[in-house]
Amino acid sequence: MSYALEIENVSKKYKDFVALDNINFKIEQGDFVGLLGVNGAGKTSLIFSIAGINKFSGKIRVMGYDVVKDEIKAKLSMGIVPQEVAIDSFLTVHQTLKIQSGLYHVQNNEKWIDEILERLSLTDKKNTNTRALSGGMKRRLMVAQALVHKPPLIILDEPTAGVDVEIRKNFWEFITDLNHQGHTILLTTHYLEEVDKLCQKIIVLNKGKAGKQQTKHEFMNQSFSFDKTLQVTLVNATVPNELKQKVLNQQQNTYILELASDDDIINILNLFRQQNIKIENIEINHKSLEDIFMQHLGR
Ligand SMILES: Nc1ncnc2c1ncn2[C@@H]1O[C@H](COP(=O)(O)OP(=O)(O)OP(=O)(O)O)[C@@H](O)[C@H]1O
Ligand SMILES: [Mg+2]
Repeated sequence: MSYALEIENVSKKYKDFVALDNINFKIEQGDFVGLLGVNGAGKTSLIFSIAGINKFSGKIRVMGYDVVKDEIKAKLSMGIVPQEVAIDSFLTVHQTLKIQSGLYHVQNNEKWIDEILERLSLTDKKNTNTRALSGGMKRRLMVAQALVHKPPLIILDEPTAGVDVEIRKNFWEFITDLNHQGHTILLTTHYLEEVDKLCQKIIVLNKGKAGKQQTKHEFMNQSFSFDKTLQVTLVNATVPNELKQKVLNQQQNTYILELASDDDIINILNLFRQQNIKIENIEINHKSLEDIFMQHLGR
């Protein structure tokens, strides 16, 4: 089996704080993998380690190349879209991509640059100074920068934060096409519906530790405790204590509760009635990837 990315016993400390705690996983070539985790879980720390920005202990190989010992070959084999926007503000979009190509020793790639710009909806900004780009456009330019050398491994650290719905759709079509052409994709995002739509496999990072790599099907079916959820919006009330352990997610007065069986709905509604809790809105849904993720984290 050939791997695009191999992470072996990787740990990372910032002074005394352990950000990555003995991480181990391998990503097969051609896979599309979602790396999930709440804020501070260690996703960017791991990506910085792969990129050679962070010092770490353990071993990381990209397309078989050790990122420390074979740094240049490893770097040529990957394209990373960082979470933070960082673009030189004295260049046009086209100049930015030509300079990036030069860094990777790629010549005569005008056709590819034009295709990237087209697929990322940036063609009309080709000769615009990067200072004059909107936040979402800057983010797309960073994606373009990561792709100039057609890297076999593409790592995306929240690439669609701040990108509008229409362009996000075009963006994901482009990334999916690249995946179908054989590029391996590692994605972190907080938009879990994107992970549900795009990724074949999932790894959860939690407080610097990585869970087992699972297919999306395995991930969705790891919990047999519920299949459906009840979403209720309450009028000036919180859920009764008896239901607290069923809460998967809460946003203001809206709660998502696990439903173990259809009887559960009746029990829950009875409890609201007994306690005079008024309901503004109610919905029954099939469990989503986000529900499983929340359950997995133990809320
Ligand atoms: N340069 C640094 N110095 C000290 N601590 C750091 C540094 N960078 C990250 N950390 C800490 O390491 C932990 C992991 O951070 P990291 O940025 O990897 O999380 P993340 O999973 O990418 O989160 P997010 O979803 O918010 O991007 C956090 O507790 C963070 O405060
Ligand atoms: Mg991050």
